[in-house]
Amino acid sequence: MSAIPVTIGRRMPLAAASERLDASAQGAGSASGRPVIGDALVDTHGRVHRDLRISLTDRCSLRCTYCMPEQGNEWLAKTSILTLDEIERIARVAAADGITTFRLTGGEPLLRTDIVEVVRRLAAITGPTGAPVEIAMTTNGIRLPELLPGLIEAGLNRLNISIDTLRRDRFHELTRRDRLDDVLEGIAAAGASDLRPLKLNAVAMRDVNDDELVELVEFAIAHDAQMRFIEQMPLDAGHTWDRSRMVTQDEILQALSRRWTLAPVPGRGGAPAARWTLDGGPHSVGVIASVTAPFCGDCDRLRLTADGQLRNCLFSTTEYDVLPILRDGRPADTVDAGVDGMLRSCVHGKLPGHAINDPAFLQPARGMNAIGG
Ligand code: 5AD
Ligand code: SF4
Repeated sequence: MSAIPVTIGRRMPLAAASERLDASAQGAGSASGRPVIGDALVDTHGRVHRDLRISLTDRCSLRCTYCMPEQGNEWLAKTSILTLDEIERIARVAAADGITTFRLTGGEPLLRTDIVEVVRRLAAITGPTGAPVEIAMTTNGIRLPELLPGLIEAGLNRLNISIDTLRRDRFHELTRRDRLDDVLEGIAAAGASDLRPLKLNAVAMRDVNDDELVELVEFAIAHDAQMRFIEQMPLDAGHTWDRSRMVTQDEILQALSRRWTLAPVPGRGGAPAARWTLDGGPHSVGVIASVTAPFCGDCDRLRLTADGQLRNCLFSTTEYDVLPILRDGRPADTVDAGVDGMLRSCVHGKLPGHAINDPAFLQPARGMNAIGG
């Protein structure tokens, strides 16, 4: 297989970014109406940002077809990967600006050798009111049995584990690795822990796992977890997504309603998943319908890639580079203001919604493994 060229997305022109940096760095303050560290991250559409997804690595122990190519992936340069100190520094500024949840993702976040320390440092951060932040993680589960006790002790609050199929041959085909048993052990470890709500994620795929939806929900219930189905999005590094082949929310609900009576759960807020109770509860199922029922209007999420690029949307083609601020040797006491300015530039540039359904839609250059789910 030939290498698939991955060009990293358009960067915010440095001049434009530093203009905004200067505005914050000068500490112009609320007196002049300019935002300072401590002001909420509100975009031009009034959305307040509370959730920062931090990708810790683009590496993964699996090769899910909807995410990564089998070979020819262009890995991020090791020297550009944020260090523990750099992640903590960005997170502290973000928390001061009103971010209340850090979700650790990848690639596979458990492949980071300092993962327990990352959780410990982030969990010690408090927001402006003194309330601790919440630490969540999205993982493929593979290293959980060995790592979970340390992660919980370090302050991890919530887990999402990806499991697209319960059949070994399918799992092997879909992830190109024969590791279903490892994932199942990871889910069992999470199920036996106190971390709740525990969520299991599956991307619904036609002729791959669309005959397994009921089984997956039953499996989740058996582990005291909530199953969530995700509509497949155009984020695979191989650019093979085909709208006509994706399994829609309507189809997912139809399949489940053959087994259960579904009733919508109100009060979704900014959550990506809409939920339905099964036979009146207490169990429920979630569907993340990014394609057929986008929820951008309530989006409160920002993303930080493993190489220090802030993104305001999974699908954006602009990135806001924090690395120079951390590494260009500027006076230490201006770094936080610089990070704050870049967070604000990123939020300011956020569009009202993604344009997956627009014929002119351009898939971001990065695959999901390099963006962070
Ligand atoms: N479409 C939908 N979901 C995806 N994920 C990865 N790639 C895609 C895609 N193309 C999901 C994974 C995991 C989370 C990080 O994102 O299954 O649950
Ligand atoms: Fe790895 Fe997650 Fe991508 Fe699968 S979806 S290859 S588990 S990063």
